[in-house]
Amino acid sequence: MAEATTELAPDEQVYEYQDDRDAKCPFAPPPGLRALNDKAPVTRGKIWDGSTPWLVTGHAAQRAILSDPRVSSDDKQPGFPYPNQRRAHRQDAGRPQAGRPGDLTRAAAALADDLRAARCAVRGPRLLLAARVKDGDLTLPEATLLAIILLIAGHETSATMITVGTALLLENPEQLARLQQIDNTKDAAGAVEEILRYLTVAQFGQRRIASEDFEFEGVDIKAGDGIVVPLPAGNWDPDAFPDPEKLDLTRKATHHHAFGWGIHQCLGQQLARIELQVVYGTLYRRVPTLRLAVDRDELEFRPADALAFGIRELPVTW
Ligand code: HEM
Repeated sequence: MAEATTELAPDEQVYEYQDDRDAKCPFAPPPGLRALNDKAPVTRGKIWDGSTPWLVTGHAAQRAILSDPRVSSDDKQPGFPYPNQRRAHRQDAGRPQAGRPGDLTRAAAALADDLRAARCAVRGPRLLLAARVKDGDLTLPEATLLAIILLIAGHETSATMITVGTALLLENPEQLARLQQIDNTKDAAGAVEEILRYLTVAQFGQRRIASEDFEFEGVDIKAGDGIVVPLPAGNWDPDAFPDPEKLDLTRKATHHHAFGWGIHQCLGQQLARIELQVVYGTLYRRVPTLRLAVDRDELEFRPADALAFGIRELPVTW
């Protein structure tokens, strides 16, 4: 378990990262997280293991920290702010001990568990990866990791954008009507960027660790301090997006952080954009009577600590 990386003053109040979304506004980031935008762009938050990494919530600060070479994404460093216990354990399983090679078998088994948990049903990529392993281009753990990335990073996020995006649009009929008037997928591009900003389905917070001491936005960050970058907060920062709670499909929102920022930003973002432009540009026009088959209150949203925001089921009719 990670040590507390930063010292708090005895009376210092910290935000318990991260509270649930407000059931009345499930599409908005959790209220406590939003409140940080009024406080300061960089504060401290308490995470699941009791440690208190820096939370970088301001849009400009997120952009700066995610492209800062003094910050690393190396999750093997002590003090790394893991998102949950499972990840921390998985890291331990594969971490080489001093003087001993890392246990690839255990790491691979942990990864394979994840893959099973993700219920791999994607036959094409699986066969493709199997062929690369057979040819010796990839090891089994590498192929497993790639499969997980494709499934969770690539499939889960895009699928969620379609289901939650549909629920969001059905709740904003005037915006939906705007989308229904679009007659080609290219014109849906701006709408897609705004929906990406609004929902920021990669809600978990990008994890980093400081490699050296430095001053940032008025705080002293020390080498080994954990850093969490909650992307929904940056995308709802009123300095970057005035009236962020307003869904406005005509807004120029391309500077959002839904795909992260810096060298680790999403590798699949152009593919995701194309997928979403096709769906948003055609579905509601082709099925104009699309509506929820249940009350909105009956929709079960994933909790704020789930890797990607989402809805467990979206019953619709038309
Ligand atoms: C709406 C859909 C998507 C969203 C919101 C999304 C979001 C993100 C975010 C926020 C990151 C940054 C992680 C970080 O900074 O640590 C990321 C990374 C990544 N995404 Fe996506 N993603 C989406 C679709 C896809 C697709 C379709 C693919 C591939 C087919 C993909 C592959 C990846 C990969 C490989 C990375 C890791 C990049 C790296 O660490 O260097 N993503 N994604």
